[in-house]
This record gives sequence, structure tokens and C-alpha cells, in this order.
Amino acid sequence: DAVLDHRRLERCAGENRLADDAMLPPGNVAGAVEPRAQRIAAFDWAQLEDAVSNCTSCKLCERRTNTVFGVGDRQAEWMLIGEAPGENEDKQGEPFVGQAGKLLASMLRAVGLSREKGVFIANVLKCRPPGNRNPQPDEVARCEPYLRRQVALLRPRIIVAMGRFAVPSLLREHVPDIESQPLGRLRGEIYAYEGVPVVVTYHPAYLLRTPTDKAKAWADLCLAQSLTTGA
Ligand code: URA
Repeated sequence: DAVLDHRRLERCAGENRLADDAMLPPGNVAGAVEPRAQRIAAFDWAQLEDAVSNCTSCKLCERRTNTVFGVGDRQAEWMLIGEAPGENEDKQGEPFVGQAGKLLASMLRAVGLSREKGVFIANVLKCRPPGNRNPQPDEVARCEPYLRRQVALLRPRIIVAMGRFAVPSLLREHVPDIESQPLGRLRGEIYAYEGVPVVVTYHPAYLLRTPTDKAKAWADLCLAQSLTTGA
């Protein structure tokens, strides 16, 4: 329950650490930034939104109904990052509008936030993978500069990475062997993406299937909140 989770959170607090190499420049591990990524890294919000909605960089553009840029407060302290649009999101052009989105909204309310205020919600991929299949590495690579720029424009105080897909996509450069680590083992630590602290939690769709882990997700949000309030 919440009390137990809070105790766990307090225990975690002493162990939290921000990766030393949090300030790596944008680009790939070797430090080379390709021209397209470099261009995107200079966009303002309007240019970025326009680039995403017209993107044809990978094959996902062929079957999408809408791109899903992200939604929320552009002054937000919190940024939540999921995997990719599903069927409803593709139809409506907004992230997390289905069942998982409802759960996410109620979790946000519990920490005093809402889709409209205090939070920006985005996905690693801006287009729906057909049939909700897993995103492929080339799709992630082509979409990554958009997310990187969203983070740079937003400068949130905390990123919450949700699920076994978003987590490695964001932290691959900083956490060795991240692909082989169960998400449960990555929770409770503070990582970093582009210099912004990152908290790892379960994906809301997973929580719908495994409600017994909701308490852990609640603890993760409390951990994130403690970083925004300095509590
Ligand atoms: N799952 C996600 O990861 N993102 C969405 O926008 C919807 C479902």
C-alpha cells in the first residue's frame, strides 16, 4: 500500500544516483551527429511538430492515420514517455487515449497532475506500428531525434520512462546490458537522458494486465515527485 511504498521510496532515496555521463551531446554513442538529427536539434516547437506530421523517414508513415506528436503542457516539469501509438492513438493523433490512457490519467491525478497541466506525454515512436507489433530498431533510430528535441525544448525536471520498450530506448547509452535487465530490476534508481533525471516504471498497459504491480508504479511516481519538489 501507499505507506509501505513510501517507506520503500525513503529507502531508495539514499541509493539514487544520476549517471556521471548525463551531459553527453545529442547523437549516437560515437558522438557523430548525422545531418538530419542536427537539423531537428535546432527546431522550435512549431517546426518540430510540422516535421513529425510530415515525416516519411521510416515505413511506418505508409500505414499511419495520424502522427502522434505528444500532448500537454509545454512548461511542464514532468515528461512521461511511452512506447508508440496504438489503434486509438493513431485514429485521434493523441497519445494514451485508450484504456491504458485512462489508467495513466488516474495515476497522474493521484500525484496532483493532469494531461493538461504539469505534464507532457509523448512516445518513443510517433507513428503506430501495424497491429501494435514491437517497434523495430531502425524505426526507433529514425524517430529518436524528435524525442530528443522534445526533451531539449521542454527541459522537464523529471522524465518517467514507462515500460520495457521506452526504458531501453532512453537509457541504452548509459546503462550497460539494459536490454537483458528485467524492468523490475531497473526501478528505484535515478538515471538520466540528456541531463534530465529519469525514473523507470511499468507501462500502464502492463498494469492493466498485472494490477498487483500498481503499488510499485505508485512508488515510482512518488520517487519522481520527490525529485520535482526536492522533498
Ligand atoms: N501505449 C503507448 O505506449 N503509447 C500510447 O500512446 C498508447 C499506448
